[in-house]
Amino acid sequence: QECGSLSIIVLGASGDLAKKKTFPALFNLYRQGFLPPSEVHIFGYARSKMTDDDLRDRIRGHLIPRNVTAEISEDVLNFLHLIKYVSGSYDTEDGFHLLDDEISKYECQKNSQEHSKRLFYLALPPSVYPSVCRMIKLCCMNKSDLGWTRIVVEKPFGRDLESAEQLSAQIGELFDESQIYRIDHYLGKELVQNLLVMRFANRLFLPLWNRDNIANVQIVFREDFGTQGRGGYFDQYGIIRDIIQNHLLQVLCLVAMEKPVSIKPEHIRDEKVKVLQAVNLIKDEEVVLGQYEGYKDDPTVPEDSNTPTFATMVLRIHNERWEGVPFILKAGKALNSRKAEIRVQFKDVPGDIFKCNKQGRNEFVIRLQPSEALYMKLTVKQPGLEMSTIQSELDLSYGQRYQGVVIPEAYERLILDTIKGDQQHFVRRDELKAAWEIFTPLLHRIDKGEFKPISYKPGTRGPAEADELLAKAGYVQTHGY
Ligand code: BG6
Repeated sequence: QECGSLSIIVLGASGDLAKKKTFPALFNLYRQGFLPPSEVHIFGYARSKMTDDDLRDRIRGHLIPRNVTAEISEDVLNFLHLIKYVSGSYDTEDGFHLLDDEISKYECQKNSQEHSKRLFYLALPPSVYPSVCRMIKLCCMNKSDLGWTRIVVEKPFGRDLESAEQLSAQIGELFDESQIYRIDHYLGKELVQNLLVMRFANRLFLPLWNRDNIANVQIVFREDFGTQGRGGYFDQYGIIRDIIQNHLLQVLCLVAMEKPVSIKPEHIRDEKVKVLQAVNLIKDEEVVLGQYEGYKDDPTVPEDSNTPTFATMVLRIHNERWEGVPFILKAGKALNSRKAEIRVQFKDVPGDIFKCNKQGRNEFVIRLQPSEALYMKLTVKQPGLEMSTIQSELDLSYGQRYQGVVIPEAYERLILDTIKGDQQHFVRRDELKAAWEIFTPLLHRIDKGEFKPISYKPGTRGPAEADELLAKAGYVQTHGY
């Protein structure tokens, strides 16, 4: 085991993402013993002039779990004590030299400059990524070959293929791909991480997982709240860039990819790229866009905004396994529920002697949130004297089956991976490019106003046209669960 010190530098430390996600995730890792104070120091960096204590005060409120115990509040204090703040701009060297001095000071104290490990977490808008990366490269790299410097970036990685490629090229000139961790937090969710195990460690699924047996796949994200407070950001991007092009498409990759040679990150990512490259261009008639009523009341949203807050679309994968199987991606804000799930619907039973096809088909559902669950809809004999059939479920609800097991937050898991140097759950540059290739033509049409969203009432299922599209794609509504 190499010894050394780990510095975690959160850039954009005074912002929302850092406060709500990054620091709380670090805190949870700290509480579980993954960030021992003898080896780890945390630095916040941002433009605002503040003291260490100012920053600590800002984040403290986000670290305290609901049922505070004496032990937890002591943990909070000890954790906050690890954090030091440095202020500076994102595009000049002074601040970054200062940051480097502080990190080096700490490394000298630990006598570990030779093994200095520096993790830079960019909780910042992508517009400053290139200049921040340049500054890190110029001023803040680890001081010897025994350590490392890694960069963690958050979406949105660009607005379309061209801008994403430009961003990748700018960062790629400064850092090797092995140093860059592009976070898609859906890849840190328990049941997303379970997909490969479920698919490739169960004999049951292997022969069924193809066009011969599967009628359609739905990957759905719904939120029961709108863009409150984020309208300005959201309007620049819209639901396709915010959710579908990244989160849902990553899930699609894991559902549809071929078996990787091994579970090494590169082998897995190679297969993800291949499936993305096999996705056909999306047809206009297989897209429904929506915008909820009241979205434009937000003063930061332009009155004539054409930005979709809802989208349903069919993706078609042109390969031997999936030809003809619609993959329906659906995401919406201000709908009637909050849920993310994958729904794999199987074909009808041929030669159905029970006439049970009418009741519905077999479905395998993977509920990512809330209440993680895997369940399988099956037809069984109605218990009792009669020989009739009903739809029922084989149900693995995590809350019941794994009582007492704490499911870690996505960010917690992913940050731990960046410390370990495991890139399996991060998006590789070629993957990102392939993902933008699929959506860019459609996005450009929407941006030009050539594709209009249909208005829908908040708190509903979204535009009725989306359900019609689902039915046209062959989804059969089943009853029960
Ligand atoms: C973010 C989006 O990436 O994911 C948000 O920008 C969205 O708009 C959020 O609300 C949803 O994440 P989760 O983990 O709550 O499903």
